[in-house]
Amino acid sequence: MSRLLSLSALTLLLVACGDDTTTATDSATGTTGTTGTTGTTGTTGTTGTDGDQVNWYADISPLLQTHCTRCHYDGGLGTGDFSDYDTASAMAEIMVGQIDAGWMPPPASDPECRDYHGSDAMHLPVGGRDLIQAWVDGGTPQGDPADEVIVEGLHEELDDPDLVVMLPEPYTPTYSDAANPGNEYRCFVIEDVPADDYYVSSMQPIIDNRSMSHHVVLYAGRSSGITDTHRAPEGFDCINGEEWSVISAFVGGWAPGDLPVELPDGVAMKFKGGEPLILQMHYFDPGTLPEGTSDHPGYAFKLVDEPDKVATFKTWGESSFNIPAGNDHYEVTESTKTHPSRDLTIYAVWPHMHLLGWEAEMHITQPDGTEDCMVDGRYNFANQVPYYFKEPYLAPAGSMAEFTCTFNNSTSNPDLDGEPKDTQYGERTDEEMCFFFTLVTTD
Ligand code: HEC
Repeated sequence: MSRLLSLSALTLLLVACGDDTTTATDSATGTTGTTGTTGTTGTTGTTGTDGDQVNWYADISPLLQTHCTRCHYDGGLGTGDFSDYDTASAMAEIMVGQIDAGWMPPPASDPECRDYHGSDAMHLPVGGRDLIQAWVDGGTPQGDPADEVIVEGLHEELDDPDLVVMLPEPYTPTYSDAANPGNEYRCFVIEDVPADDYYVSSMQPIIDNRSMSHHVVLYAGRSSGITDTHRAPEGFDCINGEEWSVISAFVGGWAPGDLPVELPDGVAMKFKGGEPLILQMHYFDPGTLPEGTSDHPGYAFKLVDEPDKVATFKTWGESSFNIPAGNDHYEVTESTKTHPSRDLTIYAVWPHMHLLGWEAEMHITQPDGTEDCMVDGRYNFANQVPYYFKEPYLAPAGSMAEFTCTFNNSTSNPDLDGEPKDTQYGERTDEEMCFFFTLVTTD
């Protein structure tokens, strides 16, 4: 079958992947999940003379630019614009509290597992918390504007795209599904694509309205199945298997906190010329959006000439589980053998769960017994970064991939919305998923 994950594979998951052997085990183990620890030891910053007092321009602004303003900007995912002195100083004490609780910055995979692009920015350095505390203790001084530093942060947007496709018109969600208040899953057909096959080395959705865009999935469409009803500017309903006749493959996605997909030189994904793209938007209105709030999303791509290697998404995961209400540490574990005679190169791993997701772990054991860590650590819905390896990882033919999704379905999970309830697999945010999307080439 096609190495591009077919839509049926997304539902039936891996069971259908011809060359893999899959075994699944669900297990429930006891004890309360721990909150992540963030570097809080060590000391930085002093409160000595005026000259070396911890201040905004020299110390705090660069720290927040490196670790926080990726989400905490005007219109961003996080609360407040931390590039603004007034906001940051007013919130400084709350920042320390959030860091001590292990909630901010949102937990990410342990860089000791593997060396990722940007992991320095995802974890607060030892002393970072104390620096903010020292700033609070000193009365949050501004310091000297001449000390201002601009830090190159993690980019959420793709610079200089070669191809931008947009919905023909803005769309205003109606949230008319009474069974799922405040949620709408809507698909749109984009036909304004290159006529010839094209190769994508980087891509990222254009998120117009962040206050209501909960996720974006990009599919390769199947022109033979598309009718004028699908083409309507207001799109069509699509969730958990509806209308999948018009979709041929999953080719990309975005969730809050996500960074652009960027492949190394010589590697790119192939898109079929003339075939439409389908954009699935999940809109969410917590009840606070003004009536009639609209959105005008799209997708941006960087294109290259035919590459040496064509990368595809390979999905590992499990879609048969029941997370019991109240269980704060429920593990879904699975192992899958890679192709017996073809090596696999892995460029990135992107764990995906919903609000109950607590920890994500994936290891590969090579045929000679060598065990290597791909991702390992706390998971958070608000920080769904793909982990790009600084060095591509070669999994020799016949390696065993093992992965575990740990869920916290108890009130100790602050992301839990309402009372815990038994939760099964599904695409909706109040259902759960356990996926590890990987970007791979096969040799
Ligand atoms: C990947 C995105 C992301 C990053 C990076 C991030 N935050 Fe947040 N932050 C959030 C989100 C989302 C919320 C809102 C959580 C909620 O409402 O449940 C939040 C909330 C907060 C709050 C609570 C605000 C309130 O009103 O109580 C504080 C304080 C905070 N973050 C501090 C930080 C600090 C300090 C950093 C950097 C060291 C940081 N955050 C990095 C996403 C992020």
